[in-house]
Parts: sequence; structure tokens; C-alpha cells
Amino acid sequence: MAKQKNVRSYGIRKIKRPMAYCMLATVFVITSVFLSISSLNEGRSTINILGSALVLLLAFAEFAVHLRFASAEVMESPRKMMMISISLLVVELLALLMLRVDAGFSPMLIAVMLLSLMVDEHAALASIFICTISTGVISSITAEADYVPLAGMCATLVSGIAAVYSLRMRRTRSTTIIASAIAGAVALLAFAGVMLMHSVDFADYWRSLLWTAGSAVLCGIVTVGIMPLFETLFDVATDARLNELLNNDNPLIKRLMLEAPGTYHHSVLVASLAEAAAEKIGANALLCKVGAYYHDVGKLRSPLYFRENQKPDYNIHDELDPFESAQRIIAHQRDGVTLLTKHRLPGDVIRIVGEHHGDSVMVYFYDKAKRMAPNGAQVDEKQFRYPSKKPSSKESAIVMLADCCEAAVRSMQNPTMKDIQAKVHDVIAHKWNKSDAMLWHSPLTFAEIREIEGSFIKTFAALHHERVEYPDLEDIDVR
Ligand SMILES: [Fe+2]
Ligand SMILES: [Fe+2]
Repeated sequence: MAKQKNVRSYGIRKIKRPMAYCMLATVFVITSVFLSISSLNEGRSTINILGSALVLLLAFAEFAVHLRFASAEVMESPRKMMMISISLLVVELLALLMLRVDAGFSPMLIAVMLLSLMVDEHAALASIFICTISTGVISSITAEADYVPLAGMCATLVSGIAAVYSLRMRRTRSTTIIASAIAGAVALLAFAGVMLMHSVDFADYWRSLLWTAGSAVLCGIVTVGIMPLFETLFDVATDARLNELLNNDNPLIKRLMLEAPGTYHHSVLVASLAEAAAEKIGANALLCKVGAYYHDVGKLRSPLYFRENQKPDYNIHDELDPFESAQRIIAHQRDGVTLLTKHRLPGDVIRIVGEHHGDSVMVYFYDKAKRMAPNGAQVDEKQFRYPSKKPSSKESAIVMLADCCEAAVRSMQNPTMKDIQAKVHDVIAHKWNKSDAMLWHSPLTFAEIREIEGSFIKTFAALHHERVEYPDLEDIDVR
């Protein structure tokens, strides 16, 4: 029972919205305190300080409102809210501590890039507003000329947006440095533009220009440096970490290749199906690919109990009681979660593995048990049911569908593409229908399920080296 709880309890922990507001309010209060101390040290009046705090409060409030409406899921996630709060607090305090370095120096890009890499694009873009206003407020404490805060704000705004969109292409550690360099170049131009606007002599601000571009690149290096810490502390599946997990030198992948080659081959096919389908509907394709690679690692405990690793003429289950067969097979989902937790894989990957069979019933062994039951005795269906949650994310649902479709198509004898289309449609329809209802807890829409079906058929056509006409979505009837 305790082991079952392990699998079941693997879900998303949520917090109430007021808690998220409290976390942002705490960052605002701490920043305001340090801002006040710095302002008093620089001889600013209480009225000046109140004005700065008011502007900062508006920025934080609008950030919270934006998150509430654009990224409600982020607000409910304790780890994402912690990452947002810590990132913002760190850059605010760094900016205050480095106040005297130079007007062009800004650490704000660290928060923007961290949030873009670890939370989501909405949060990163929204954080640019806080960072921009904070830059203006903080640099006005020491600025001798009025245009300096404006130059800093323009540089932060355009460099932040440039960094977020540069990171959109690929989110690896090296592209983070490239993104920071692009952001630095854009910041430099913005800073120079404001200086030209105010007819400032180049000799007076060339040093700030260097600091503007240099600090952006420095932010990229710092972001790459602290990413592993954030990944560990907050259990984040960044693209960089996911890409590392796809490496064939990874011990679990190596074991799969050597100890369960059939399962490895199956996992690679599931990954191809899941990745293409996820790309088609805009889900996290890389997370799907990694989830698919690892979804059956639990089979490593006893590979020969699974069809894909058996010899064609021998099936160990022919000698076993259907109850024992079912328990052996059901165990692979739980074993996978245990193994991946031990190897410290990201929680998002473990969730896919823990949900890839949902709470489905092993129909083959259940029917076998019913047939073997003496005098038509009742058979407990629970003993043939996976003790897990149904897929709770788009990625989990895609991997489940890809897994079922791959297994179903593999079991067919010399299928034509028409047979494959019909089989894929049947499998997906079965997962949706009321008796199975495997997709009811996932956020997939009807339109997305239809897209996934079309994508699977296209991938199977490629895998079977046949040209197939892409099915007309009108002809796909998913009920
Ligand atoms: Fe499985
Ligand atoms: Fe599988």
C-alpha cells in the first residue's frame, strides 16, 4: 500500500493565490527597505523615498495582476513562485549593492533569463516591467543627470525582450550566453540612443556603454552558473537538463540498451511519436521525448516479463498465474518512478512515467483470470488495475497515447497504412471513451486530440517507409 502511495502521490502541489501575492509582497517590502537605506545614505529625502516605493509598488502590483490573468498556473505553483520571488529579490538587492559601479551596470537580465528558462515566457516578459521600473528607481538614487535613469530603463526593457525571444529558439546553456550577448548589443544601442537624444558628449558616457553591454554578457554567464543550483533546488526540467538526459551515456539509457533492448527500441519509437505530436499542438516536445525515453525503465527489474524483450517462441506468462503476470507487469510503472527518483530525474519526467498507464486495467490478464476462475467465481478487477493517476498534463497524455499506439501497431502482422490509421484511431478513441476516460483529466482539447492522431499516423508512415496521404481531419472522428 505504501508503494502504491508513492506513485499516486506524484502530482502537482498547488498553493492558494493569496500565498503567491504574499510572496511577491515580501519581495517588495524587502526591496523597499533596502531601497530606503540606500536612498538615505545618498541623502535623499523621505518624500523621494515614498515616491520610489510607490512606483515600485505599482510595478509589483501590475506584475501580480499580469500573472493572475496570463499565467494562473504559475501562481498556483509554489516552486515557480519561489523561483520568481528569489530571482527578483536577488537582482533588486544586487542592483542596490552595486549602485556606485556605473550607470550602465545592470544585473536585471539575470532574473529575466532565469524566469524564461525555468518558469515560462509570460513570467519572464512580465518581469521585464518590474526590472525596467526598478532600474529607473534605483539608478535615480545616484544619477547626476535626468537622462541616466531613462537610458537604464530603455536598455533594460529592450535587452530583456531581446533575451526572452533569443532564448525562444533553443534553451541550452550555450544559447543563454548568445542570448545575453544579443541583449547586450541591443542594450548598448538603446543606451547610446538616449544619450544621443540628450546630446550628451560621447566622452562622458563611453564607459557606461561598455558596462551596459558587458553587464548583459556577465548576466548570461551568472545565469548559466546558477542554473544547476536552481534546477536542483526547485526540481526544474530545463531544456538544458532534458537534453543531457537524452545522451546515450546516461546510465539508465545504457542499461536499457544492454539489458532490455526491445524496450529501448520501443521507447525510441514512442519518443518519435510523442515529440512530433507535442510539436504539432505546441506542448513541451522535449519533455515528451525525455518522458518517452524513460517511460518504461521500470521494466529493467525483470525485462523478460515484457513481450518486446522475449523470444518469439517463448512467453513466460504462459507458465504463470494471470494474477502474478498482472502484478509483475503493473509493477514496472511503480519501479520506474522509484528508479528515476533514485537517479534524481526532474519531477516533470517522473510524473509522465508515473502516469503513463493511468489507472487502466490489464484486460488480457483480467479476461484470462475470469476464464480460469472456478465455477464463474468473481475476479477482483482491482488486482489488474494500475494504481496510478490518469494523465494530468498534455505531455503525460501524449506519451500515454504514443505508448499505446506503438504497442498496438507493433502487434499487427504486416499492416498496411490503412490498417495503421484504423488502429491508431481505435486506440485513441478507446482512451477517450467513457469506460476508459484516460484523457479526461488532461488539458488536451478535442482539436488537439485530432492533431495528435494525425501526427501519429504521419510518424508511422515515416517509420514504415511508406508515403501516406495525411488524413483529412474531417475524416477523423474522435468521440
Ligand atoms: Fe509501460
Ligand atoms: Fe511502453
